[in-house]
Amino acid sequence: MDDKLNFPATGRNVSAILQVLQKHLLAGDVIEIASGSGQHVVQFAKAMPDHIFWPSDPDPDHIKSINAWADENQLQNLQPAVKLDCTDSKWIKGQEVLGLPQTAAAILCINMIHIAPVQAALGLFAGAEQRLQPGGILYLYGPFFGINEQEATSNIAFDIDLQRRDQKWGVRHLNLVKKIASTRGFELSNIVKMPANNNSVLFIRR
Ligand SMILES: C[S@@+](CC[C@H](N)C(=O)[O-])C[C@H]1O[C@@H](n2cnc3c(N)ncnc32)[C@H](O)[C@@H]1O
Repeated sequence: MDDKLNFPATGRNVSAILQVLQKHLLAGDVIEIASGSGQHVVQFAKAMPDHIFWPSDPDPDHIKSINAWADENQLQNLQPAVKLDCTDSKWIKGQEVLGLPQTAAAILCINMIHIAPVQAALGLFAGAEQRLQPGGILYLYGPFFGINEQEATSNIAFDIDLQRRDQKWGVRHLNLVKKIASTRGFELSNIVKMPANNNSVLFIRR
């Protein structure tokens, strides 16, 4: 049976994300939080051979899918997926998470913090603070409020839909994310406009 999942939006935004990563990421270990289907990380690993990618996700079906995409592509610089929820205390406290490196050059988190309670964003930054070396990048991708003067109607509608699905979900305001970041030793370094009213938001570890 084929475990590979196919997320249509992921297939569409991968090239645009890759361009930003290739411009901003230093070579080294790259942990991905919330890898989902694994379609992104396989393309990243193919295009960035000087980086070693460490995918993760809390959903067992996603773990299977990531590893199925990886098996099909046989990439030396792509590690097996690890089951990880970034609100887990081991991640937050910087303790060893089996299968992930203790330090990394970058951490990626694409389309997650709005589809999870705010605790996920808090956990993401807490664990990233423990693992990123100074100068390391925490890369976020998704819709954000507070970047454009006028919010995109598609993002407003998406936010309403997210909150209908779960009251704790919702498009995050950049100020909230910056505030969380600042308590964890991160500073906003770049915002890059992306397709479909999304943004790449890059934080640097001080
Ligand atoms: C919309 S999908 C995005 C997947 C992938 N990054 C992409 O862009 O295709 C959201 C992902 O976040 C993961 N997720 C949700 N809560 C999480 C948490 N607390 N820690 C880590 N991952 C989480 C889900 O399992 C899911 O794979």
